Amino acid sequence: MDAVQTTTGHRGLCLEEPLIFEQDAAGRCGVDLPEPPAHPDGDRLGGLRRQGPIGLPGLSEPQVVRHYLRLSQKNYGIDAGFYPLGSCTMKYNPRLNEKVARLPGFGAVHPLQPAATVQGALELIDACATWLKALTGMPAVAMTPAAGAHGELVGLMTIRAALEARGDARKHVLVPESAHGTNPASAAACGYTVDSIPANARGRVDLAAFKEMLTGDVAALMLTNPNTCGLFENDIIEIAEAVHAAGAFFYCDGANLNALVGRVRPGDLGIDCMHLNLHKTFSTPHGGGGPGSGPVVLSEPLAPFAPLPCVVHGKDGFRVVEHAGDGREQTLGRIKAFHGQFGMFVRAVAYMMSLGADGLRQVAEDAVLNANYLLACLKDTLSPSFEGPCMHEALFDDHFLKDTGVSTLDFAKAMIDEGFHPMTMYFPLVVHGAMLMEPTETESKATLDQFITAVKALAAKAKAGDTEFFHQAPRLTPRRRLDETAAARHPVLRWKPATERAEAAE
Ligand SMILES: Cc1ncc(COP(=O)(O)O)c(C=O)c1O
Repeated sequence: MDAVQTTTGHRGLCLEEPLIFEQDAAGRCGVDLPEPPAHPDGDRLGGLRRQGPIGLPGLSEPQVVRHYLRLSQKNYGIDAGFYPLGSCTMKYNPRLNEKVARLPGFGAVHPLQPAATVQGALELIDACATWLKALTGMPAVAMTPAAGAHGELVGLMTIRAALEARGDARKHVLVPESAHGTNPASAAACGYTVDSIPANARGRVDLAAFKEMLTGDVAALMLTNPNTCGLFENDIIEIAEAVHAAGAFFYCDGANLNALVGRVRPGDLGIDCMHLNLHKTFSTPHGGGGPGSGPVVLSEPLAPFAPLPCVVHGKDGFRVVEHAGDGREQTLGRIKAFHGQFGMFVRAVAYMMSLGADGLRQVAEDAVLNANYLLACLKDTLSPSFEGPCMHEALFDDHFLKDTGVSTLDFAKAMIDEGFHPMTMYFPLVVHGAMLMEPTETESKATLDQFITAVKALAAKAKAGDTEFFHQAPRLTPRRRLDETAAARHPVLRWKPATERAEAAE
């Protein structure tokens, strides 16, 4: 079943868009600047003046505006619609956050300004830290990590510093097999050997296997709770006690805090270290590769090793501690330029203050309710991976597609044609053909019902044997199915002029 072809390649009013370099016309320019005045001393650049053209494409102003507008129209984002990407907490980013972040007192400050001129900004960083410590029940927080994965690395570096300080360098980190890939990657980047803990039949950590692996050479356990199957690790207190009895530290991946925020304080569960993805739980935008923000909360034993800089409140107002000393002799040092992702702190504080403690608790309750609504409505159509209710995300596997010739990938592509961003596919790895759906609390029942109707209709089509329909999907997108293997093996990362491309091909 082929998609409708048009002579122009445009589809409806969705226009095909060439690369900006392909629209280049020599000498064309959107602005008309006067020649710079001649310098009285002649060549003041000492012979370094550019000799050739700069290599920028020549476009008129309307061409530039249309180019970027058309590109933005091809982009799908949370402002456009439902985004049930499991593990990513794609919640709506309130406009209030954006408005506050753009106030000149926040948006126009420079990180090198003297502290006396940015007292309000420093107070905001301190307020953000105070909220995060209160919500997690932890005594300290390192604000500077730039994303969840960066927070993991910093947390593990803090643990390593604490162990080395007591002359007890250890070599292993235990990570459940269902963990997000960044967990083992961060541990390996930090120089640890990663040992994978098996899951039990209920999708949780196999307690007996875990205890057996917990030797005196284990530096830390990295556990996600709720875990990546959307399930609460019920044995968490026993797990924490075992970790501490073995002289190790308990790292918790806080990417799934949206299920617990305002209801459970991770510090009360015996956690030593946890990164918080502000771009998930605290509604700041996810950027492509940044700017996220991943502050790390720390227990008492880890606090002295926290990275710098940090903001402190003294009798003369707020100041920034930049260097070891000043009461921070054991710090592991700087891990990020300046003070962290300040714009994200502003948005997170706006979010926390506008919701308040009761509102934040309701976030967790509604996020869990929405996921369970999806699970309950789809459990007889799809195949839930585990029994019982879930936390903030519902996990299904591809059992319901058995013998249909339709894969999880085909199903996801067909969802795009129905106007829904697909759920997370093939993660976590502990179930076959995973489909992980995280609706978040910001979606209405009407949206969820529309989604459920579409998923049920697609499942019925798959079970009825309409395999070709799925293999052809997506049919309504600007691009059809791409050769993902070729794209990964032979990535084209940079535009080159046609002449260079021809030379390279020879
Ligand atoms: C469970 C889990 N841990 C860690 C991360 C890493 O966070 P970030 O993408 O902010 O680096 C993610 C991201 O999706 C995640 O889902």
